Amino acid sequence: MESLLQQINDHKLAIAAFTANNTDEVEQFRIKWLGTKGLVKAIMGEMRNVPNDQKKEFGQILNEFKLFAEARFQALQDQFAGASTTSTGKSAQDLSLPGDAVSVGSRHPLTLVRNEMVAIFKRLGFSVAEGPEIEDDWHNFGAMNLPEDHPARDMQDTFYIKKPEDGNGPTWLLRTHTSSVQARVMENQKPPIRVICPGRVYRNETISARAHCFFHQVEGLYIDENVSFADLKQTLYFFVQEMFGKDVKVRFRPSYFPFTEPSAEMDISCLICEGKGCNICKHTGWVEILGSGMVHPKVLENFGIDSNKYTGFAFGMGVERITQLKYQVNDLRLYSQNDVRFLKQFTGVV
Ligand code: PHE
Repeated sequence: MESLLQQINDHKLAIAAFTANNTDEVEQFRIKWLGTKGLVKAIMGEMRNVPNDQKKEFGQILNEFKLFAEARFQALQDQFAGASTTSTGKSAQDLSLPGDAVSVGSRHPLTLVRNEMVAIFKRLGFSVAEGPEIEDDWHNFGAMNLPEDHPARDMQDTFYIKKPEDGNGPTWLLRTHTSSVQARVMENQKPPIRVICPGRVYRNETISARAHCFFHQVEGLYIDENVSFADLKQTLYFFVQEMFGKDVKVRFRPSYFPFTEPSAEMDISCLICEGKGCNICKHTGWVEILGSGMVHPKVLENFGIDSNKYTGFAFGMGVERITQLKYQVNDLRLYSQNDVRFLKQFTGVV
């Protein structure tokens, strides 16, 4: 039986050393070792000659040999799985073909526009201030000349946060505008002040194509000696020209905000229909984009700023509205639905 063991060992060495350059050669391996006339079968046939008392021991050795050959065959097959190879040994795969496209993320359109807005104001020397989204009544309303019973509070439907059981402490709410950040800046800085406040704000509105319970603002505040309404106009005019191009026209309409006096809303000529009249401009040729005005002396005094010495202007606008005009997005809900078909349109825009 020594010679049989020797044969098995030799076969094993040959099997282990076998390499294939293509699937044809793998098939040759199968025929040679595992085929019906293959060497594994032939060796198995040798069992006949093994004495009975050694049959058990040899049975195991032969079985193990068969598994060894099968495992090698599997490994050779795996080597070529998925790739077809020609008998000349060359890969049939064209390695010069472009690979699968990797999909990359992109910035959200609101982020793109917010960044652009911030960049424009930075060029005018404004710095960026941020503040909390959960605010107390004073910073959101009181300091902004909206005492508790002020009817103008109804202009902004507020989400109030439940008061603690004992009823003590301030009334908390979700900020309705980033004027609350301006309040915090005036609290902590002395004029001259020149900041913009980008951020998310909340209002209790029914969600539709035209309204949402949260949106984004960029508000601005400039306080110094001799700041005039002309400065306000020129600053905002510069902004829209940078944002929408030199052809855009602006107009100011008198308005009312408790924290500014005088107050004005600013419209720009409709970029979608170029003034001919469309749904966006409600066939007027103009779209409102912001509220603004000269900071009310009472607001300045609330923060110990001498309103005889200093004047200032403030403005606030919605990032969604600017984005709508820039990219013609007609449904506010698209911004928060995470639909990649919408979002991927902004890939590559920086
Ligand atoms: N805070 C106002 C709003 O959210 C916008 C505004 C800011 C108006 C500053 C005038 C001056 O509607």
